[in-house]
Formats: sequence, structure tokens, C-alpha cells
Amino acid sequence: PTITVHPDQPLADLGDLYGIFFEDLNHAADGGLYAEMVQNRSFEFCSVDAPDYHALTAWEDAQGAPLTPAPLALRVLSDAPLNSNNLHYLQIDTHDPRTFRNHGYGQGMAFRRDAVYRFSVFARKLYAPVTLTVALTDDAGQILASGETVVTSDDWHQYFLTLTSRGTTAAGRLQLTVSGNAHVSLDMISLFPKDTFHHRINGVREDIGEQLAALHPRFMRFPGGCLVHDGSLDPRDRDAGYRWKNTIGPVEARPARRNSWGYNQTLGLGYYELFQLAEDIGAKPLPVLPGGWDPHHQWAAPMAELQPFIDDALDLIEFANGPVDSEWGAKRAAMGHPQPFHLEYLAIGNEEVGQEFFDRYPRFHNQIKARYPDIKLINSAGPFAAGSEFDRGWTSARQHHSDLVDEHYYMSPRWFLANQHRYDTYDAHGPKVFLGEYASHGNTWANALAEASYMIGLERNAAKVGLACYAPLLCNTDYVNWRPDLIWYDQQHVTGSVNYDVQKLFMTHQGSQNIAHEEANLPAPLPLPAAPTTGAVRFQGADADITYSNISYTDLLSDTTTQLADGTVTGQDQVPLLAKTSGYFRLTFDFVKTGGRPDKGMRLDFGVVDDQHRFGWS
Ligand code: AHR
Repeated sequence: PTITVHPDQPLADLGDLYGIFFEDLNHAADGGLYAEMVQNRSFEFCSVDAPDYHALTAWEDAQGAPLTPAPLALRVLSDAPLNSNNLHYLQIDTHDPRTFRNHGYGQGMAFRRDAVYRFSVFARKLYAPVTLTVALTDDAGQILASGETVVTSDDWHQYFLTLTSRGTTAAGRLQLTVSGNAHVSLDMISLFPKDTFHHRINGVREDIGEQLAALHPRFMRFPGGCLVHDGSLDPRDRDAGYRWKNTIGPVEARPARRNSWGYNQTLGLGYYELFQLAEDIGAKPLPVLPGGWDPHHQWAAPMAELQPFIDDALDLIEFANGPVDSEWGAKRAAMGHPQPFHLEYLAIGNEEVGQEFFDRYPRFHNQIKARYPDIKLINSAGPFAAGSEFDRGWTSARQHHSDLVDEHYYMSPRWFLANQHRYDTYDAHGPKVFLGEYASHGNTWANALAEASYMIGLERNAAKVGLACYAPLLCNTDYVNWRPDLIWYDQQHVTGSVNYDVQKLFMTHQGSQNIAHEEANLPAPLPLPAAPTTGAVRFQGADADITYSNISYTDLLSDTTTQLADGTVTGQDQVPLLAKTSGYFRLTFDFVKTGGRPDKGMRLDFGVVDDQHRFGWS
């Protein structure tokens, strides 16, 4: 083959093409990137977050058995709390010394010999001062470090200790012993390694932070994904949406929430910390805000009540970029960052398909552009389906002159190879593509190669594709909501996947411009891997009976939709829905478990390749 390049003929700027996307699923924040080691530090876990949670989740007695309330002696109370966002605390009233411990995440806390840990607690006592002995232990209960602090305050007060571990363990515990004859309230029991990434207080894990920094991403999208558009903006509602204003300010005053991925989200890693992280890794921040439409609960903010959502967007821009004497710029400065965070990009909505969103988007767009014309606004297209769902986002974007449109797809490696030319026909004069989520179904070399090939197609089309980021970014091996993922870790180790190596290669060697070239005498293209084989799709039950209805089945390649029969699956039985499939499909359905809340519009995209189904869902 002969390739002739013309360095004097630039075609398109590659700009900020490659970045990363952080979403708190797979315990990406709590139990992951966020360096807090204590799980359920403020006793706010509850069954709204996850069915098996309770206020003492992750707390144990001295023998490692789950900690249970003891009448009068050990209780979780909520009268006279630390603040109105942090209602629960541990009350201990005891004659004898009492020892209990926190398990941390996964197998336990990872302590390293000679490493330093910072303990803190909010406490208040009734009557006499109370001695609190704080220890780091290994899995056998051996003490690796210990220290004491005396609670002397009658009102909530924060106490600190620094502990240096004498040993290394992958399954450690934080152990507390309250002296005898004590009446003491404890809340926000916290332990961080002293060495966080860039030595930030309330910061992120050093090893994971370094893994992110090594990518040299140009931008960082956050905080979701699906989790951004849950529910209302009401901070009193545990099931409410992710509202950025709840995630800044003192950590102990941030209201914990139900993360839509099925666990508690402390919001300790909030917007300030995420802006800070983006800056520390040299990436431009790219926040995603809800657009007043929650497809999970099928709830739309009434038009007359939409303004607070829009104000959230306007205030966020001021928080990031405003002068220190502006209302929200002052809050940023008070948290320790008087300089602006240089926000350039803002996305409204995530994977939007509902007309409700597109009815509301223009109001965001017009007000944001009127006040901040230089902010690049990102409209939203639905997740991939051959054509129709993307069209609404693109139509809206063209009509309102959005700067970019967020497309998402999770497909087979074969799809990525076959669609290398996807963007060749896109219009270079309209809004640009933000490929905000993509991955082929797996963490193998074949997946990574298919993604690399696809990324060449993105670069070739840099005039039309502005930004692209693989998804999801992070996964704790003990809490997998979704796979594949770019970076895997437990409490002790972190490993980049082979897909990570591809992203790193492209990010660290991102060119600045596409230049004209011609190709001649190219070898004939290799045939694509064999066509997908056959498989079956079954509806598998849980312990309860599940009734499903409104099932439709779309072949994503031919865009043909078939309606399937409604039915019930009992116990853990399976009901075949499709006997024979090949290719790439979408199932949508409603279901309700006996005694449960109906879930409407569930969606499952999957491909069948070599007898393996891979699927994502939302
Ligand atoms: O990346 C995982 C999820 O996939 C995101 O939350 C959502 O946007 C998509 O459906």
C-alpha cells in the first residue's frame, strides 16, 4: 500500500477528542475512587437504597458478627442529629467498655505497613468525658495501630487521630472501643489514607487517581449516566435526583441518597471534588445535568416548575467559573478554590428519548446561551437503536443549535468493525458528535482491537466528532453492576484492562490535526468474523413471581419490531421468549414482582456472538 500525506493541508482539529466518563456505578465512588475507607460512616444506610441495608450495615461486633442494636446500650437514633441532612447517629450508653468495628468495603480495609491513616469522628458526651480507643486491625483482630481521643464536648464536635500501621492486610477493620460508664453519640466515623491523590483532604485513592492521570484525558464527563435523571429535585426525598447543590459544602451536611445502581451514595465525592479531580488529571470538566425528565419513574417536572432545574445549570456555571464575589463563586472559593475551574462544556440530559425531555431542553438552552454564550451545550440522543431514537436528539440539536449531541452505544466487536465508517456521512457543518458512552462487549484483546479500529474512524471524522469517551470507567470487583469496564480494582489493587491500554495509547498520542492523505494499492479488506450464531432469550424469574407485559423485540440491524406475548414467570423458572436469535437486539418490557413496584419501560440491548450474550440494560 502507498499512503501519501499532505502536512500542508489540515482538514480538522482534533481538539479535545479523547476523554473519560466517571459514573458512580460498580461502587465507583464510595468503595472505589473516593478514598473513604469506612462504609456507612454516618449510619444513613436504609432499605430505600438497597433491600438488605439497615442503619448498622457494615458494622460488626468485636468478633466480626453483624452489630445489632442492644436495648438502651447501643442504638441508632435521630433526635438532636448532627444536622438536618445527616439524621442518624450511633448512641452508646454502657457500664462496661464496648468494642465494635467497621468492615469497610469488599473483603475489608487494605492497610499498608508504615502508611499513615487519618481518623475522624463527630461526637458528644452526656455526663463524664468518654475515652475512645481507635485501632486498625488485621482480619485476625491483631492491632496494627491504635490511639486514643477523649470526648469532652457536650455538643457535636469533631475529633481527629492519626494512625500509622505496623503491618499490611487486605482485610483490615477499623475498631473502636468506648470506655466504661459512657454516654456518647458518634457520627461520621471516618478513615482516610493520608496519601490521597494530590494529597487532597476528602480526596480520591492515590492508585486509582494515578491510573486516571496516566491516560492524559482531555475531558472528564461526570457524574452519569443514568444516575443523573432520577426523580425530583427535592432534597428531602431519599429517592430524589442527583442534585449537584447537595454534593458541595461540608461533607457531613451532604444528604446521602439512593443511587439508582442499587446502593447508598454518600455524595462525599461531590461536584467540588470532581472538578478538583478533573483539574488534577489535566482534564476539562464536563458535567451532565438532568433535564427535568426522569424516564426511570416516568416523571416530568411540570413546565411551571422547571425553573429550579434551569437555575441549577446557571448556578453550576457560576460555581465553576464565577468570580469569588458572586454567590456561587464564593462557595467554590470557600471550599478552597478561588480560581475558576474553567468550565467549557455542559450536557443537559442523558440518553434521552422522551418527548418530555425535548419539550424542556429549549428552555435550558435559551437561558444558558443568553447568559453564557461561550458554554458549549450538549444535547442528548437516546441509546443506540438503528435510527429512530437518535433522530429526536439530532433534530432538537439542529433546531436549537446545540454544540454537540451525546450518542451512546454498547455493541459487539463485530459491530464496531463493521461500523468504522459510521461518521463518514455525518454533516460537518451541524452540531458535533459527543460519543459520551461506548464500548464493545468485553475486556479481551479482540474487543480492544475493535475499539482501536473504531477510534481511527473517529479521528478520520474529527470534523464531525468532537468528543469521545469509553464507558463505564471504573469497577470494584466485589460490586459489579455492569461489565465490561475500563479499570478494575478491589480495596488493595487496581488494574487497567486491555481496553484501558488502547485508550491510553490513543489519548497519550492524540494528534492535533487531521491532514489530507491518499491511499493507493490497499490490500483487499479482511472478511469480518463469522456471522453471529444462534441463541435463545429467556425471562428468568427471581424468588417472587414476575409478571411481564408490553414486550417488544427489535432487531437492531433491520430495525424491525415484533410484539411478544405477555406472561408470568414463577419462582426461579425460565420462560423462553425467543427460541432462536442471531445478531443484535433490543427487548423492551414492563414487569412487576409480586408485591413490588412496577418497573415500566425496561430495556435490554444485547448481541449474540459465539453463543455468548452480552447485554446492558437501563
Ligand atoms: O455506562 C452505564 C450506563 O449505560 C449509563 O449510566 C447509561 O447512560 C447507559 O445506559
